[in-house]
Amino acid sequence: MAKVKIMETILRDAHQSQAATRMRTDEMLPAAKMLDEVGFYALEAWGGATFDSCLRYLDEDPWERLRALKKAIPNTKLQMLFRGQNILGYKHYADDVVDEFCRLSLKNGVDIIRIFDALNDVRNMRQAIESTKKYNGTVEAALCYTTSKVHTVEYFVDLAVELEKMGADIICIKDMANLLLPYTAYELVSKIKDKVKIPVHLHTHNTAGTGDMVNMKAIEAGCDIVDTALSPLGNGTSQPATEALVASLKGTEYDTGLDLEKLNKCTEYFRKIAERLTADGFLNPRVLKVDVNALIYQVPGGMLSNLISQLKQQNASDRLTEVLEEVPRVRADLGFPPLVTPSSQIVGTQAVLNVLAGERYKTVTKETKGVLAGEYGKLPLEPSANVVKKIIGDTPRITCRPADNIPPELDKYKKEIEEYATCDEDVLTYALFPQLAMPFFKKREARLHGVDKVIYDADNKVQPV
Ligand code: CO
Repeated sequence: MAKVKIMETILRDAHQSQAATRMRTDEMLPAAKMLDEVGFYALEAWGGATFDSCLRYLDEDPWERLRALKKAIPNTKLQMLFRGQNILGYKHYADDVVDEFCRLSLKNGVDIIRIFDALNDVRNMRQAIESTKKYNGTVEAALCYTTSKVHTVEYFVDLAVELEKMGADIICIKDMANLLLPYTAYELVSKIKDKVKIPVHLHTHNTAGTGDMVNMKAIEAGCDIVDTALSPLGNGTSQPATEALVASLKGTEYDTGLDLEKLNKCTEYFRKIAERLTADGFLNPRVLKVDVNALIYQVPGGMLSNLISQLKQQNASDRLTEVLEEVPRVRADLGFPPLVTPSSQIVGTQAVLNVLAGERYKTVTKETKGVLAGEYGKLPLEPSANVVKKIIGDTPRITCRPADNIPPELDKYKKEIEEYATCDEDVLTYALFPQLAMPFFKKREARLHGVDKVIYDADNKVQPV
């Protein structure tokens, strides 16, 4: 039996799931050398919500972060999380934007791209898979694990076979909500390993407290790589702790070969970062507890912390249980999408609206309408006919790959932002987050000139201050 490989997630999913994605680059870099020396298979360090968070909350250039991490971590592969046709945003983009994003992610330092589609509609993953291969990146194609009457073990095995055929180098079982139970994990991994030749990588969380057991059973079934997070930001809604798994496998046929003393140096460092995130109110101790509700309501870690903060903003923290009860009902109405970005936000926000408005679907978001209209791809099951009728009426629904309806748009974005963009990466920042990119570029320009603010003339040229 081959040794088990570990991907460490502290730079991405760990703080995204536990601390609203607020770890800053200047908190990551001092640990870069220590992390690089551990010998992890890879570090998950970019993508997911980190791009959005850099711009929205941290006043950081996400591309700059990637380059800085790559420079500081020369020996360990960097992995990013990529939402198929949604890239790192929340809607579908044209194929040329997806292609350019893959190109520049790989150029700036990413080695492995984990690609998924929230609905497991493989048509939405094709372009990202092709582009990653075209630019010599490693494709890790993910299936989003969930449970429903259609989401059986056979369903996921077939999906894994299809993703291998599409060119995946690695198959990821992405269990974003810790719904996968240990013995199902054993069965699922065994059956996938029987049918595909490429390595299998398991990604789970410890939301419901079963994550360590899930990892262990998956490893016994032959899983090649698992995700863990160093203990200061491990467990709870994040990944199971790295140190515990490394110690558990030591001396066995699955030994990870990682050194606990080296890990401990990283642990000590990140303990201080976790304290800072707690002091600033981003890490709510509530997300650290074993949450049995996660098994009932199928709420992933990131979504749970988002719901808590959404309700807090509305002064409605006491309605969390009601919202958690509404989530599976909305999900069933919408045809059982797995709950992962962006469907988790769409279902979560709609559940909050349904509860706070006191009437279901009295207020409906544009995104909920879009899901029902087929704008995100094929739903695992037909949505509720009543809900479709109430929400979109007789509007025709899309059945093709949604991006087939989107003409190339990269040139349009280039033109729109040409006065502010200083490089190709800026164009993509703007394409994904136009409202955030513009103020960010202006602030950056001001910093460059050593002033608080720069003045632009009518042609958007910077005026010397
Ligand atoms: Co995750």
